[in-house]
Amino acid sequence: MDEYATLTYNGKEILLPVITGSEGEKAIDISSLRAETGFITLDPGYANTGSCLSAITFMDGEKGILRYRGIPVEQLAEHSSFKETVYLLINGRLPNRNELTRFSVMLNDNSLVHTDLKTFFQNYPRGAHPMGILSSMVNALRSFYPALDSHEEEINITMTRLLSKVRTMAAMSYKISRGHEIVFPRPDLTYCENFLNMMFDSPVKPYEIKRETVNALRGFWILHADHEQNCSTSAVRMVGSARVNLYAAISSGIAALWGPLHGGANQAVIEMLTAIQKDGGNCQKTVQRAKDRNDPFRLMGFGHRVYKTYDPRAKIMKKMCDNLLESMQIDDPLLNIARELEEIALRDQYFIDHNLYPNVDFYSGIVLRAIGIPTNMFTVMFALGRLPGWIAQWKESIDDPHWKIARPRQIYTGNLCYDYIPIHAR
Ligand code: SDX
Repeated sequence: MDEYATLTYNGKEILLPVITGSEGEKAIDISSLRAETGFITLDPGYANTGSCLSAITFMDGEKGILRYRGIPVEQLAEHSSFKETVYLLINGRLPNRNELTRFSVMLNDNSLVHTDLKTFFQNYPRGAHPMGILSSMVNALRSFYPALDSHEEEINITMTRLLSKVRTMAAMSYKISRGHEIVFPRPDLTYCENFLNMMFDSPVKPYEIKRETVNALRGFWILHADHEQNCSTSAVRMVGSARVNLYAAISSGIAALWGPLHGGANQAVIEMLTAIQKDGGNCQKTVQRAKDRNDPFRLMGFGHRVYKTYDPRAKIMKKMCDNLLESMQIDDPLLNIARELEEIALRDQYFIDHNLYPNVDFYSGIVLRAIGIPTNMFTVMFALGRLPGWIAQWKESIDDPHWKIARPRQIYTGNLCYDYIPIHAR
């Protein structure tokens, strides 16, 4: 039975269709609003606005639910490989053994990058932030891999190239930033093993691939793989809606993720915890600052636009953190500070009233530190995890028969019309 919402204004009444999602979420379809009323809606930050219908990821912010293509993220984090989760997000179902093998071979065959890209990396200033490098290097990939005539082939090969080459480029960037020779991907290593080996293997000290670090990286990337219409995914969809190539759309997603309110928060959390440590471990002072409306400081790794309860990923990340540090016998003082900070905040009325809980970034940095990732690469690690989600969301948008360029409207609040004043009269 069709449902409608009634909008009444100035004695005029219009009916707007109500859309119901597969999990019962409801939306008012306002696509006819301006034509019927001359009105638009206004929703800064889009907190109340759906940009699309999507079958990829389901989140329930009140219940703390996250599912990729219907599978709870808890189960994927426990049982799946990152490669398998990538396949699930992009193709809509888990692969059978043959499909997974074929996917592995395609990723392996596309894991090298053009050697001329090295000069790009070598010419960045030493202190350049890896997210700025990654965003521009992903854009540069189009110059090395021009579009193919067949649309289908172009899409498939470009998705595979990005999934495999961006991981290689991230490790290359790290090696070159340290003045070390790059390490090539190996066909005998898994996706996660290869990344760690490309990052840390050295001619003078071969990297020992340990189960616990590979498992932690696998879990980290699965937890970051998609999150419906977050800021960076919306950037990929919006930029992609202009029909630009996928490399450019992904480059815009990397740029958006860099922000400290978004993916950059994982680096900001570690910087915050380190500052508390330097300040004698005074967590109370930090919590007070976060509550002070005159202080722009926010408790990094806390709060979320959608989750008004504990971020399900943060729960898993916290457990992963404990297991990894225990198995590696690491006693990271920042973990103790993070635990104390969480304990204080969760009991504080301000955080309770504002529904502020740890999000995915609160413990993730401590996992990355234990793996050996440098702090300025934490958001790159988030980007490598989110890449399949961006690609899946972009693919879903281009496959939509009603796909159109994204072009929001505005309400103008500037000057009324007035005539040009010649400079001698001003
Ligand atoms: C990610 O969208 C996604 O799905 C993102 C993500 C993904 O996987 O893609 O989950 C990844 O980006 C996680 C979030 C990482 N960012 C941080 O940890 C930065 C710290 N958190 C915030 O700045 C904030 O919580 C946001 C940006 C995450 C969400 O902000 P909103 O939804 O725009 O909420 P808001 O800024 O309007 O805040 C509402 C109130 C305000 O107080 P009042 O003025 O109403 O009294 O809550 C307060 C804020 O001051 N508040 C905080 C706070 N977050 C919100 N106060 C102190 N510390 C915080 N962290």
